[in-house]
Amino acid sequence: MNKENDIKLADLARENSYSPYSNFSVGAALRCKNGHVFTGCNIENHGIQSCCAERTAFLKAISEGEKEFESISVVGAVHNEEPTSECTPCGYCRQFMSEFVDENFKIYTLSSGEIKEYTIKDLLPNGFTNHKD
Ligand code: THU
Repeated sequence: MNKENDIKLADLARENSYSPYSNFSVGAALRCKNGHVFTGCNIENHGIQSCCAERTAFLKAISEGEKEFESISVVGAVHNEEPTSECTPCGYCRQFMSEFVDENFKIYTLSSGEIKEYTIKDLLPNGFTNHKD
């Protein structure tokens, strides 16, 4: 199944996380409708402009010309530890993703070893928009 595969890819992407400030490494695997998968990790800095794993994956995909997205899988945990609790996208990422996806876009997370499934509509009900219905 794609979601099991993508959760593994997201967990692997944590290895590239640059997160010396939070000590929390996050990986994401963004699946495009054409089957391409882009991974991303969180990238922090000494200011407050950290980039979450989800946005890293979207930025990579969009800058490579991708436009149609199916799902994103997200795994996060303290550095060098196995994920124990669920890592759901932050509010900024929810709004960011909503720009590029339809309401059926899926978000997969890992909760106590089990994959949980949401739609962007579940996580961002009544999200702000000024140009779409
Ligand atoms: N973070 C993500 O990359 N994705 C999430 O879904 C939640 C939080 C990052 C931001 C920051 O680098 C670290 O995790 C701790 O908040």
